[in-house]
Amino acid sequence: MSQDTNFKDTPLKASLKVDTKYAYCTCGKSDKFPYCDGTHREEGGQPIKFTVKGNTDAWVCQCGKSGRKPYCDGSHQQ
Ligand code: FES
Repeated sequence: MSQDTNFKDTPLKASLKVDTKYAYCTCGKSDKFPYCDGTHREEGGQPIKFTVKGNTDAWVCQCGKSGRKPYCDGSHQQ
């Protein structure tokens, strides 16, 4: 993990709400990590925009290695 990013070795359990637009941070520089705060405009990169079909709890990737971002796929354990 780079010291100048907010990537972590554990996922975030998040309560995601229907009718909410989320933007998952892929640059790791957001102060709202794992959600985008616009910092990528200075650093490069693009957020992943997503919504959910119903209110749900989900594990959100914080290591940046998941193959199914924004969700955790267990890659942080490898
Ligand atoms: S701040 Fe990281 S992708 Fe937007």
